[in-house]
Amino acid sequence: MLTLGILGSGSGSNMQAILDAITSGTLQAKIGIVLSDNPDAFILKRAEENGIPHGVIDCAGHKTKFSDLVQAQTAGMLKQAGVDLVCLAGFMRLVKAPLLDAFPSKILNIHPSLLPAFPGVAAWAQAVAAKVKETGVTVHVVDSGMDTGPVILQEKLEILPDETADALHKRLQVIEHRIYPLAISQYANSLNL
Ligand code: GAR
Repeated sequence: MLTLGILGSGSGSNMQAILDAITSGTLQAKIGIVLSDNPDAFILKRAEENGIPHGVIDCAGHKTKFSDLVQAQTAGMLKQAGVDLVCLAGFMRLVKAPLLDAFPSKILNIHPSLLPAFPGVAAWAQAVAAKVKETGVTVHVVDSGMDTGPVILQEKLEILPDETADALHKRLQVIEHRIYPLAISQYANSLNL
């Protein structure tokens, strides 16, 4: 059985979508562990409520730093939970060598833009500020860059006239919740996981 490890920093709505896809049978997998760098993140509460093993990635109060030591500890926790494929779901730290080497080509990310456009934080607000006509959602394999790495799946979304950044993010999330489980399933099948 494909075992997923999910890393998130926020509300965990993508984790919920993955869980719902598993429950409905459209994604044949289980979530082995959910980890967050934010002890107060709602994603951990969701994991707890659903009886999923979960834990905190202790970044010792650093806002963005994700040290080699902490990355190695994170890889250890994922390995111990039997994780085959790591899914970043709103995880807001840059993954580097210790974690990438432990899971080569086996870390996915979902990002709310048509990468390579608008990497980084609040991509929906970046798209509105840039006054582009369309944006979208990308699922990609993680490499050492920020929101770079081979694209697995992308879906476009037209930005409505005068649409606010918040309203756009809500519509992008509907796409995220649909395509992330699909991309995970396709990618895991392609690797025979
Ligand atoms: C999602 O919109 C995700 O695409 C974005 O964070 C949000 C997390 O929401 N990720 C990034 O911006 C990564 N660069 P969630 O916690 O409800 O899944």
